[in-house]
Amino acid sequence: MSKYVIANWKMNGASASITDHISRLAKRLGSKAIANKLSVIICAPHVYLSALKTLTKDLPISIGGQDCHSHAKGAFTGETSAEMLADVGCRYVLIGHSERRKYNGEDESVLQEKVIMAQHAGLTPILCIGESAIEREQKATLEVLRRQLSILKETQGNVLISYEPDWAIGTGITPDLEDVQIVCHSIADEYQRLTDKNACVIYGGSVNAENASGFIQSKDIDGILVGGASLAPESFGQIIEISAQLS
Ligand code: 13P
Repeated sequence: MSKYVIANWKMNGASASITDHISRLAKRLGSKAIANKLSVIICAPHVYLSALKTLTKDLPISIGGQDCHSHAKGAFTGETSAEMLADVGCRYVLIGHSERRKYNGEDESVLQEKVIMAQHAGLTPILCIGESAIEREQKATLEVLRRQLSILKETQGNVLISYEPDWAIGTGITPDLEDVQIVCHSIADEYQRLTDKNACVIYGGSVNAENASGFIQSKDIDGILVGGASLAPESFGQIIEISAQLS
């Protein structure tokens, strides 16, 4: 299975900067070698997805949304459905990122509905899970992850699981590689117990060009989800190149 290198641009970018980003990235990763070794995905702000789809049409890059609504359609002003994301060419969607859990109060029941919506629309949801700093201090990491994973029991289709401890997001601090491997392994075990299927588990939280290689080389970690370091084509391009060399 090829490793995943996923960008989460969050609420960043503008038409001109995205065009510039992709043309600079394209110069670095036009090669087929990358397409054969990695799955590169960019999760962009929804208003730019159509443009991004056009900009990446000849590149080994898939696109994804950063959230979808828990209903298929209707009177939900300002929201985006999973079908709409699929319609503009997305293959993936982030679900339950810690920033959405924190700022939008998303809980397990709504996240389960979102995962189901995404799968119905033919998208692969990237379910983000992870403990807070306090939960980590209380040694409650596995208990928290088990609760967050429980929503996958009733779901049918493909899913990627991203382990993103929220204390590692945007802080420049990463857990020890060994701890990430142990946690990713436990996530895969729990997913197998819940669904009888093999999991695909990636890591996110302060990944950059310096530390990406450790995560990519681990047999327990199927890829990386990159926030800040994905915003510049130089650093994201470097992460992709390093990952392709090591895969
Ligand atoms: P940073 O890479 O900026 O820590 O963000 C990680 C993240 O939130 C990816 O979804």
